[in-house]
Amino acid sequence: MIGRLNHVAIAVPDLAQAAARYREVLGADVSEPMDQPDHGVTVVFVTLPNSKIELLGPLGKDSPIAGFLQRNPAGGVHHLCFEVADIAAACDTLQAAGARVLGDGEPKIGAHGKPVLFLHPKDFCGTLIEIEQV
Ligand code: CO
Repeated sequence: MIGRLNHVAIAVPDLAQAAARYREVLGADVSEPMDQPDHGVTVVFVTLPNSKIELLGPLGKDSPIAGFLQRNPAGGVHHLCFEVADIAAACDTLQAAGARVLGDGEPKIGAHGKPVLFLHPKDFCGTLIEIEQV
């Protein structure tokens, strides 16, 4: 059902420092930071030949990544995002298999303007999974 790995998201306490690491040490193609107030994060996109890394910094005091950064003060892998062709069908298949869809169970418009849903990390080896329709 899942297709390409769309991105790996890494939550970081200091976005400027993280962006500099990827740009200067790893020599990656790194975007300018973009605030996403609807999602409570500022994002830097790292474009790789075969996928993307998203560096997520907290935006505002109710950021959804604040708890993660408290538990992981140096930052860490926050979620993986896989592509699907039909998110409604994927949602039905996943729920029928017993996977827990976070929130109200309905796809939402994600950080890239496309429908996404998130799956409970306890159902996927301790990793938060994002599914995005492309
Ligand atoms: Co994501």
